[in-house]
Amino acid sequence: MYSFNHTLREENTPSDVRSILYHIARGVKYINFSLRAGNTGVAKSQNSSGEEQLTLDVLSDNIIIEQLQYSQLVACCASEEQEELMYFPAPRGKYTVAYDPLDGSSLVGANLTIGSIFGIWEGGELNGKKGRDLLASAYAIYGPRVELIVALKGKGVFIFEMNDVGEFMLTQKKLELKDTSKYFAPGNLRATAIHPKYLTLVEKYIAEGRTLRYSGGMVPDLHHILKKGEGIFTYPGCAKHPNGKLRLAFECAPFAMIFAEAGGLALDVHGTEILDLEIKSPHERTTIFIGSTDEVKNAVKALQ
Ligand code: AHG
Ligand code: MN
Ligand code: MN
Repeated sequence: MYSFNHTLREENTPSDVRSILYHIARGVKYINFSLRAGNTGVAKSQNSSGEEQLTLDVLSDNIIIEQLQYSQLVACCASEEQEELMYFPAPRGKYTVAYDPLDGSSLVGANLTIGSIFGIWEGGELNGKKGRDLLASAYAIYGPRVELIVALKGKGVFIFEMNDVGEFMLTQKKLELKDTSKYFAPGNLRATAIHPKYLTLVEKYIAEGRTLRYSGGMVPDLHHILKKGEGIFTYPGCAKHPNGKLRLAFECAPFAMIFAEAGGLALDVHGTEILDLEIKSPHERTTIFIGSTDEVKNAVKALQ
């Protein structure tokens, strides 16, 4: 079995990107240990979206900030837990990282699976970037087993699993998604109140006897699709959140890149590729339909 570093070298990953990913992997390892031993209570603070922060949200954010600074390669970063972009002196280069240190915080109390999400761009500024410009994306999943999934531009998607001594070892590479699927993960069903066509779509999936796989966490819901090699996750807008709830920079764009590298597709409700949406502010949100290509195209068409 190949190690994380060996695999990245073998794929000729540029050394700067390799080093940033190495620091992210170390951060993920520390977050995992904090989750196992950590305080699941609230931090008595809110993030910039007005959401209550858990102690673990703040802790995970600090772990990632520290690791990105240690890399000396990251000049700018955007975190779900920080209102403003953060700028660091980066003597060895200029890269931008957007991340969600803990995705699925509302599931922590119920001890369900959660994750972390990362996107890496060249350059010292986030605004104006697109998912299509990402050099690499990654997410970690903290389930019964801890896995780190990495997409390298033009090289595909790789899955690593953490072993007993905290090393990430390659378990799967060059993942491929089928164009059609029997699995569906319908997010934001409250949108059916203003979007009867969304209700019709979900009813069609039920009538067709498809299998529901939905946990309420974007990381486990999308991981299920990647591991099964098929599926669709939908998150349209509703009255409260017309653009949905999920953020472009640190949730949707990195996942859109990972899915594209596995032969899948991510569109917004208007049919625009998520990879082509320009980031104008760190916390902007977008609707998303992501997964098996034909399923995604058909779902968006059904909502027009
Ligand atoms: P976060 O915990 O980072 O705020 O994100 C939670 C997200 C995502 O993981 C999930 O798909 C979505 O929220 C679920 O939204 P609902 O609250 O609409 O179920
Ligand atoms: Mn999130
Ligand atoms: Mn989060």
